[in-house]
Amino acid sequence: MRLILLGPPASGKGTQAMVLRTRYTVPQISTGDMLRAARAAGTKLGEQAEQYMRAGKLVPDEVVIGLVDERLSEADTETGFILDGFPRTVPQAEALADLLARRGLKLDACIQIDVPRDLLMERATLRRTDKATGQIYHLKYNPPPPGADLVHRADDREETVAKRLDEYEAMTAALLPHYEQLGLLRRVDGVGKPDEVTARIREALGG
Ligand code: AP5
Repeated sequence: MRLILLGPPASGKGTQAMVLRTRYTVPQISTGDMLRAARAAGTKLGEQAEQYMRAGKLVPDEVVIGLVDERLSEADTETGFILDGFPRTVPQAEALADLLARRGLKLDACIQIDVPRDLLMERATLRRTDKATGQIYHLKYNPPPPGADLVHRADDREETVAKRLDEYEAMTAALLPHYEQLGLLRRVDGVGKPDEVTARIREALGG
């Protein structure tokens, strides 16, 4: 299974990728997680990415393309992968096509998770992530267990979420016609319980 999960910030890509990676036994490749890990490790790349992420802007294409190229060279991606948060621009999509062609691989599908903007704001601002396991919680819809050691992402504050949503409209929405033309796009309603959304995705993928 070689899958792209597309969708606006906080639409549920990470939540769904965590379920689907077990279902299809493939790794989840999240460029957001990779960039946050680089930042936490204090690498030069992490420092460069920091200013963009903090401002709710996309990190330059060449930086994320380099990260994904390296990640796709690791052995665990041989059986497939779920890309979560990449590509986000048409140049990233074109670079991905080149990276896959070089490896003789093809995408199976691109799933777009649709969620209205007012819900996205609530999902992002009340999100909390477990520091140790990476498990994603929501203070209202999926509360964390008592005593969990939680992180509130710096870019989940209301004013930055608004900028991320605008950036999505400006840059990433252009990917929908791109993957539609390639016959790979499947749109899924992301409103409802997470397991209902998973069922819709699985149906869109043919089971
Ligand atoms: P990234 O980490 O990829 O952020 P994002 O795309 O904005 O997506 P999120 O992680 O915010 O949300 P999600 O869709 O995974 O939702 P989640 O499952 O957590 O990127 C961060 C930054 O890194 C970017 O702004 C950019 O700067 C940079 N970056 C990353 N990739 C890049 C790239 N390719 N190019 C350039 N720059 C890049 O769910 C959200 C919340 O909702 C959670 O609390 C969850 O519990 C809850 N929830 C989920 N599903 C449901 C449901 N069905 N019902 C109710 N609540 C739900």
